[in-house]
Amino acid sequence: MTEETLSNLLHEERRFEPPAAVAEHANLKAEAYERAAADPEAFWAEQAGRLDWAQSWDQVLDWSDPPFAKWFVGGRLNASYNCVDRHVEAGRGDKVALHWVGEPVEDKRDITYAQLKDEVSRAANALTELGVGTGDRVAIYLPMIPEAVVAMLACARIGAPHTVVFGGFSADALASRLEDCQAKVVITSDGGYRRGSASALKPAVDEGRAKAAELGHTVEKVLVVRRTGQDVAWDDEVDVWWHDVVDSASAEHTPEAFDSEHPLYVMYTSGTTGKPKGILHTTGGYLTGASYTHWAVFDLKPDTDVYWCSADIGWVTGHSYMVYGPLANGATQVMYEGTPDSPERGRWWKIIEDYGVTIFYTAPTAIRSFMKQGREIPDRYDMSSLRILGSVGEPINPEAYVWYREVIGGGRTPVVDTWWQTETGSIMISPLPGVTHGKPGSAMTPIPGVGAEVVNDAGEPVPNGSGGYLVLTQPWPSMLRTIWGDDQRFKDTYWSRFKEQRYYFAGDGAKKDEDGDIWVLGRVDDVMNVSGHRLSTTEIESALVSHPKVAEAAVVGAKDEDTGQAVCAFVILRESALDSGGGDGGDDIVAELRQHVRKEIGPIATPRQIMIVPELPKTRSGKIMRRLLKDVAEHREVGDVTTLADSSVMDLISKGLGSGTAEG
Ligand code: WTA
Repeated sequence: MTEETLSNLLHEERRFEPPAAVAEHANLKAEAYERAAADPEAFWAEQAGRLDWAQSWDQVLDWSDPPFAKWFVGGRLNASYNCVDRHVEAGRGDKVALHWVGEPVEDKRDITYAQLKDEVSRAANALTELGVGTGDRVAIYLPMIPEAVVAMLACARIGAPHTVVFGGFSADALASRLEDCQAKVVITSDGGYRRGSASALKPAVDEGRAKAAELGHTVEKVLVVRRTGQDVAWDDEVDVWWHDVVDSASAEHTPEAFDSEHPLYVMYTSGTTGKPKGILHTTGGYLTGASYTHWAVFDLKPDTDVYWCSADIGWVTGHSYMVYGPLANGATQVMYEGTPDSPERGRWWKIIEDYGVTIFYTAPTAIRSFMKQGREIPDRYDMSSLRILGSVGEPINPEAYVWYREVIGGGRTPVVDTWWQTETGSIMISPLPGVTHGKPGSAMTPIPGVGAEVVNDAGEPVPNGSGGYLVLTQPWPSMLRTIWGDDQRFKDTYWSRFKEQRYYFAGDGAKKDEDGDIWVLGRVDDVMNVSGHRLSTTEIESALVSHPKVAEAAVVGAKDEDTGQAVCAFVILRESALDSGGGDGGDDIVAELRQHVRKEIGPIATPRQIMIVPELPKTRSGKIMRRLLKDVAEHREVGDVTTLADSSVMDLISKGLGSGTAEG
């Protein structure tokens, strides 16, 4: 982010007071900040007490071996019991847990907590029957159908950590995840509905399973939900229909209580190297964080609210704010399978009207795309039920914030801009809707119980009005415990930069304004944020270089009006490719490379732009200077080139660009 955008942000003067009604009945009041700061462990113990424990803990936090934390040491609980059974036992079995809405308009299902309990129990029994034991890993590769939630909770119920892989990832991406966490079983479906038609999922699992086998890992069983009814290839040794084994299983299942630190799930996310990181979350601390923040930040009133988070279960937001947080809190929520514009552009707003949604949580990239379509579309719907709006995944620009508040929220609703990460497990920085006034573009302050700072290179807090690195200054219950199978990378990535201070380094840059409120500016490392999805520049570079025609590649995230950032690639072709006519950087090779990245990683990683260049700007030590490429990609004057080994390279690149650019 440039200095100019920074200062624009800081001139944002609009302020919105919390509505009186929200303030009066707020779940958390202003006093919570001081209470939590005075004794964080006591505060977190109070939040953990909102869950049902089979056995209470002896110690709130063991931080004797940093950065490896243990929370609620000695405590035992079952996450699935907390999300389902306890609500039924408390007499709320008839309450709707999920209003599921399929993309085809006639497809809907309301699932009560009692029904969810039965379904989760059946699936738990079926998984056990398939040979899944405590500690075994199960991969879930499903569209947004109720079975996805059931599958996650069934895994949690039997203590088998799940790893949900986003359905938009390719077979290759799936294979590397299956191999990395050594998944024993994969749960998938024949397909799902997106943009008005049935798209297949099972073939990617078949291919992913074969590729994992090449890497030396055998997946034992594939459990397949029938969603679309399309034809699927079948391997009798491995493939099992969900309806064959789950529907016939017993709905009786006694959940076992697991240690608070028992692994709950692994979620893969992009880092600064080509290999995705398996972020490990454990049971007691994670569930405490997810349920507390969902209750406090969205001011959830479980008896009256209808909550909807539009995130896919393939991302951490879907884990914490569609599955574990809301269900642990006994909320009634909407789950929607498809895209916002199918079959019509107002589909989301229609769902809000139909179900009387009161709390809505989505991403800035979606808001910006609706802004483009104009307010006539949302204005056709009655969304007066909404009382709180949330935003997550990337910085929300002030214009999008104000549009969201005015057009979707009718000018009444607070907007909570929530900053957090796959690694943090739950929301860390956010306004509290009944306490904090809204400042468009600012995530404001850490929530009670969380310590966050903006620091300089030396790890010292920067004064108000300046920028630096965002850090978390004290351990929190839903913190990642490690990177699956790689403790060293866990230490290096997050805890080495400010080792002395024992700060968690988030990888984001941020600024404190004159009031000390935090404005998150985006990544300071080689991670891009495209439509709220994290992508690593190196991962895409490796994908490009794996193509036989590519000699070298450099990828940068360039500012994009719709997606926040977009993938821009600079590619040097091999001589053989140049000889065979690809040398003009024509459309064919560019299209071929874009397709290649799609296949290697998935559609979300497809470069917006690929530029064929003769050279890449490198320092004398050979490091690619992405900063300069970013200048080119963002159509800026190229910055300081004095540290380049060959300072004429940038001229060469700029000159050659006329012919070698293709946007798609
Ligand atoms: C970015 C998603 C600004 C940030 C929950 C972070 C944000 C990364 C915000 C994590 C926000 C998330 N304002 N930036 N409110 N929320 N980010 O792991 O760069 O997919 O590091 O988790 O998204 O992305 P992840």
